[in-house]
Amino acid sequence: MANNHASALFFAALILLAASSPARGAGIFLNGLTISGQLCCTSTGNCPGQGVGRVPIVLNCTNIFGGTTTAGRTTTTDTGSFNFTVPLLGLILGNIIPCTVGVQLPLERIVCPALSTTTGTLSSIVQSVGTVVTSVLGLVQNATITGFNHLGV
Ligand SMILES: *[C@@H]1O[C@H](CO)[C@@H](O)[C@H](O)[C@H]1NC(C)=O
Ligand SMILES: *[C@@H]1O[C@H](CO)[C@@H](O)[C@H](O)[C@H]1NC(C)=O
Ligand SMILES: *[C@@H]1O[C@H](CO)[C@@H](O)[C@H](O)[C@H]1NC(C)=O
Repeated sequence: MANNHASALFFAALILLAASSPARGAGIFLNGLTISGQLCCTSTGNCPGQGVGRVPIVLNCTNIFGGTTTAGRTTTTDTGSFNFTVPLLGLILGNIIPCTVGVQLPLERIVCPALSTTTGTLSSIVQSVGTVVTSVLGLVQNATITGFNHLGV
């Protein structure tokens, strides 16, 4: 499980960093990041449109070594909505969050015909909404996606 190991290292490094230099957002100690978005059955995956349910969504973030760490995985609800709440990331990354939300293509035709003939991935940058919200982790930074772009072949 090389990936789990990398991700454990990543979070251990984050904790060390956080302990040595507590980052603050608007004077408030943040425990993490919450990200919400929606996937719609359009040619770009962007809404408005019919939400696409039960699609796996991955949250990938640039780690402090410059590589990519998968920080979360979820599945869309029946309305195509998804959210991730992940620890600590918001602490040191502030408003510049080097994370993306990705969807692997193609989707099954029965799930979404408009995205069933395209391969590659849909990827959106994660952007802070600029507010702090209370979550299961305590205070976290609220973020959303800027919109999906198609990557790859
Ligand atoms: C986040 O998503 C889960 C299911 O994936 C859902 O149960 C929960 O209500 C959502 N939370 C918010 C704040 O949207
Ligand atoms: C997420 O990152 C992993 C590497 O950690 C990579 O294999 C995967 O293709 C990425 N997924 C998306 C949808 O960008
Ligand atoms: C967090 O941001 C999302 C997207 O902008 C917004 O819909 C939601 O209401 C915000 N949550 C809170 C508690 O402010």
